[in-house]
Amino acid sequence: MPRTRSGVAALAVICLATLGAAPALAQSGDPLGVGRKMLAEDNPGELWIEKGKALFYQKRGPKNTSLEQCDFGMGPGRLEGAAARLPRYFTDVDRVQDLETRLISCMVRLQGFSEADVVKRAISPGGSSGSDVEALALYITSRSNGMKVNVQLSHQKEYDSYKAGEYLFFRRSGQTDFSCTQCHGEANKRIRLQDLVHMTSKQGAEEVASTWPAYRGAHYVVRTMQWRLTDCFWQMRLPDMKYGSDMSIALTLYLNYQGNGALIRVPGFKR
Ligand code: HEC
Repeated sequence: MPRTRSGVAALAVICLATLGAAPALAQSGDPLGVGRKMLAEDNPGELWIEKGKALFYQKRGPKNTSLEQCDFGMGPGRLEGAAARLPRYFTDVDRVQDLETRLISCMVRLQGFSEADVVKRAISPGGSSGSDVEALALYITSRSNGMKVNVQLSHQKEYDSYKAGEYLFFRRSGQTDFSCTQCHGEANKRIRLQDLVHMTSKQGAEEVASTWPAYRGAHYVVRTMQWRLTDCFWQMRLPDMKYGSDMSIALTLYLNYQGNGALIRVPGFKR
């Protein structure tokens, strides 16, 4: 990851934060929107797509195998449109999986990696060159770019996971008694300069379902939905979210289903 490119992005974010305070721009309604648009047009996350593609086809792990036989629901190696249907039920594991858990099961089963090791490294430190899972998740999702999110509830376990996700999304929990809706259930809410996506609106749900994995400007790396949820759990002061847990998949299934119909366009660009 060339430093210069992320450096430019970082500088632009700083400049924008400063500009955002200027009265002239503040009157435009969405002062940061202009800058966000400019950054999205030159999204450094694009570089991760190539990295993910190389990792996908490379023979790796103790079994020295590529991921070409991994079945993301459309048949072995068929990536087009696969991410648009996730999370979904997979017979071989008898479980609903999201993109990341599916990917990791293939890395373990086909390539022989240790699950604990992959999970430990899945969320990379900010400012690093990113993890394999982050790059692979982006590459795989990018093969659905331009296609519509199309999550289905045809298997009983998909339906059950959806209902669990819905329950979790609205439920207040933890020491702060927060629910997701307190930050994401109304329009025009924000924390400091960060707009909070209004996820109970169709537009907000579509944004969530179609823009992850996303390049996160503040961390200079591509981030996935598992990371995003982990971060919100932390913000809610809940116990740490277990990576790939049924709870995280249920929330993702619930959110993506709300966003059905949105056109996938990854990498998203987030602050
Ligand atoms: C205390 C406030 C707060 C709560 C409660 C909260 N979040 Fe968030 N959420 C945030 C912030 C802050 C962001 C990032 C905004 C930014 O950086 O632009 C965010 C972003 C997100 C995003 C990414 C939106 C996008 O840009 O596409 C998702 C998805 C999300 N939250 C899901 C959840 C879920 C699910 C819950 C409940 C388990 C939850 N959040 C609870 C504050 C919260």
